[in-house]
Amino acid sequence: MTPYLQPRVDGDLRSLVEDHAWLHQLVDALGSPVNVVLPDQLVRNVQRFREVYRTHHLSGGIFFAHKANRSHALVRALAAVDAGIDVASLGELQHALASGFGPSRIMATGPKSREFLWLAARTGVTVNVDSVAELTELAGIIAAHRLPRVTVLARLSGFVAAGANVMTRTSRFGIPAGNLGMLWETLAKHRDELDFAGVAYHLDTVGLPEKAAALESCLQAMDEAGAQGLRPRAVDVGGGFGVSYLADERQWDAWTTELTGAVLGKRPPMTWNNHGYGLRNEGGKIRGTLSAYPGYRPTAGPAYLDRLLTTASTAHRRPLGTLLLDSLYDLHVEPGRALLDQCGAVVMRVAEVRDDGYGETLVRLAGNGGDVALEQHGVLMDPVLLSRGRPAEAVPIGVFLTGNLCLEADLLTRRKVFLPHRPSPGDLLVFVNTGGYLMDFSAGQALMQPSARTVAAHRRHGGWRWCLDEQFWPVEDREETQ
Ligand SMILES: Cc1ncc(COP(=O)(O)O)c(C=O)c1O
Repeated sequence: MTPYLQPRVDGDLRSLVEDHAWLHQLVDALGSPVNVVLPDQLVRNVQRFREVYRTHHLSGGIFFAHKANRSHALVRALAAVDAGIDVASLGELQHALASGFGPSRIMATGPKSREFLWLAARTGVTVNVDSVAELTELAGIIAAHRLPRVTVLARLSGFVAAGANVMTRTSRFGIPAGNLGMLWETLAKHRDELDFAGVAYHLDTVGLPEKAAALESCLQAMDEAGAQGLRPRAVDVGGGFGVSYLADERQWDAWTTELTGAVLGKRPPMTWNNHGYGLRNEGGKIRGTLSAYPGYRPTAGPAYLDRLLTTASTAHRRPLGTLLLDSLYDLHVEPGRALLDQCGAVVMRVAEVRDDGYGETLVRLAGNGGDVALEQHGVLMDPVLLSRGRPAEAVPIGVFLTGNLCLEADLLTRRKVFLPHRPSPGDLLVFVNTGGYLMDFSAGQALMQPSARTVAAHRRHGGWRWCLDEQFWPVEDREETQ
């Protein structure tokens, strides 16, 4: 069986990938690589999260984690609908404000410079603080500049849920949940500057039990806050709802099994220099853990949020969503990757196809590993091959995808990628579903190679229209309103 890892491609993204001529024209016009984003799909994804809120009768903000993509079009499209935005830098805050978000729909998270804190406080966005020190610094800025009170959330970490045998891993962010004395003291001291709205977490894990334990601890912290005379009203469960990147679970299972065999030397290598993605061979036994994104996920995105809310609290034996509702708390979420599911693709031209003399076929692309950051994020999935001319005979071929940097390490993925036939120069490889972190998060200008242009694509009258990302605003042009 050919070890394909075929991507899941749905709806508009599928229709776009099927329009070969359109994509070839785009790359002919703008050069390789080109990033394509689909703002309408992002809006639909927000609606899917909102449906989960409706099911659980909850209200609160869906804050798109801006860091996952730099596109203007995506942020502007969200500004036009019922969505918020989570900004994690001064630049992202400026971008959100300039794209049409009012301060009540913006939340500042992450490590914050004084300038970032000042602009957040000056404009009145909600500040999700990482530490008591940051809270004190914010209060100082507000007092020194005589600014109005600022709404704050306190990010917590290091959770241990009552009665549960689950502890979250340590984090460099957040106030230890088991030791909130200083938080309450600081909030009491700066009552004139800070309006405490509630607590938050963001855990860098796909594990549901860890997240349920964190949410349960947050509910306990809300009780503690109430006992301190505070009136908290929202719990923010961060992002990390995830994406299922692959179409077929069996391919993922087969590939990971084959990788284990390759690391043990029981089959030919599946990767460059038999790289094990965290697995290693110690005396004929597999050691280590696979450090790759779980390519196929049965529950991801809005469905994952639903699962979290239906998980029973260990202390109260009632669903966590019901506990939020009973207390009339708002639920905030900060999804990045999950909101960008099916919202973008990176399109690259094949520059050269070469047999390396050691038995491998190298496909060099006009783009590099920074332009599509599959390796950095451990996302393993095949690109879609679009031939320019008549496709070659359909004989599957395993190839390594190399980039345009003069660097041994510049492989688009260390995985041997199986394509349905041998590509030719001028063909395109489309890396689909790369909107979240895999498009421009790591893109640079090493060797003065051109960085990708980004275009926003939308469907009009049965066909695809596009404009440069910076030209997109969520208002119809005159021709379309007539
Ligand atoms: C504070 C915070 N919120 C939200 C997110 C978004 O996470 P994801 O894209 O996995 O949903 C991140 C990601 O790093 C984060 O640090």
